[in-house]
Amino acid sequence: MKKETIVIGSDHAAYQMKETIKSYLEIEGFAVEDAGTLGTDSVDYPDFGIKVASAISSGKYNRGILMCGTGLGMSMVANRFPGVRAALCGDMFSAVMSRQHNDANILVLGGRVIGDVLAKEIVKAWLKTEFDGGRHKNRLDKFDRIDFSRCSGK
Ligand code: RB5
Repeated sequence: MKKETIVIGSDHAAYQMKETIKSYLEIEGFAVEDAGTLGTDSVDYPDFGIKVASAISSGKYNRGILMCGTGLGMSMVANRFPGVRAALCGDMFSAVMSRQHNDANILVLGGRVIGDVLAKEIVKAWLKTEFDGGRHKNRLDKFDRIDFSRCSGK
């Protein structure tokens, strides 16, 4: 039986990395929902970031992976969605901590920043690392669903 479904998406700049990560996830027994893009033609990263982030925000899927050239644009898009905690990770320590302390539900990778071997190691560590909870849960609760009408800006 398949493990959980991981929803993934990228733009053209990280299309090759997405395909590598998709194969890796399938080999590891995960089901994959691929939100695109489906080739190397130039596209707009928000279109795919929105698909993945809305699927996490709505509760349809628990975990997702987004990729673009730097990972920055996808992070910005994804973190606009309520309940999404997207973490751009380019090293193993950040990947592990993004789960232990931040309970990240979207991993973001930069296809023009890191290579496929490191990307796969980061995905592996990120998927198997549990959230520590406790004081970290209290901290997440402070910003997970902010009531902006109560933020005066002063
Ligand atoms: C595409 O050229 C590039 O801007 C995009 O992949 C990403 O790096 C944006 O943040």
